Amino acid sequence: MRKKIVAGNWKMNMNLQEGVALAKELNEVLTADKPNCDVVICTPFIHLATVAQFLNQDVIGLGAENCADKVKGAFTGEVSAEMVKSTGAQYVILGHSERREYYKETPEILKEKVQLALANGLKVIFCIGESLEEREANKQNEVVKAELEGSVFNLSAEDFAKIIIAYEPIWAIGTGKTATAEQAEEIHAYIRSCVADKYGAKVADDTSILYGGSCKASNAPELFAKPDIDGGLIGGASLKCADFKGIIDAWKK
Ligand code: 13P
Repeated sequence: MRKKIVAGNWKMNMNLQEGVALAKELNEVLTADKPNCDVVICTPFIHLATVAQFLNQDVIGLGAENCADKVKGAFTGEVSAEMVKSTGAQYVILGHSERREYYKETPEILKEKVQLALANGLKVIFCIGESLEEREANKQNEVVKAELEGSVFNLSAEDFAKIIIAYEPIWAIGTGKTATAEQAEEIHAYIRSCVADKYGAKVADDTSILYGGSCKASNAPELFAKPDIDGGLIGGASLKCADFKGIIDAWKK
């Protein structure tokens, strides 16, 4: 059975002290009131090693928001998958639309990153999703399929099992505009059918597909009730303990 997951993506927020305080608060709250799903926080690189030391990783997983597309060496400013793993983190977000757009990460670059992350024992939260223009031209299915084919459908079935997919329509990220639960379910089911075509029904059935884009405690129950929505990748609402907990608790409703 596939996992239900709520993952936070802190993006470029929180200095070290603020991030450690938030992680400690979440750790206490979720250790006292155990979630009904897997919970992951993906933080800037600088938080990882400190947070890993006190996080109860049976309750909250830890991940990075990116890693390098090279193994090691003269790549000033980059952080490798091996380095991420050495902090105690177990996950990494790859393919976020902000990285594709602002840092020009191509499908080829992402393919390298995915391979290095898996080779170093990290689970990958791989983001896909269309722009507003593409949605208006009814090209969303084409776009998500191409993103899967470009960076993860080269993997063996065994490796693909370590991939969590996050569908994040770009027009819903940080805009307050959520995809309706019906819109999200429709494309999640399509994404699952693409996985089934490539890897078979069993692998597709075991793949967790998360929704991301203005997900909050108020809309999470409706989204998570859909059969092909296995949780959320949360930006803004992962930055406050109560907001994030509210979304996690949607799995208890
Ligand atoms: P928001 O929840 O802030 O819309 O961000 C979603 C996102 O990009 C998570 O990766």
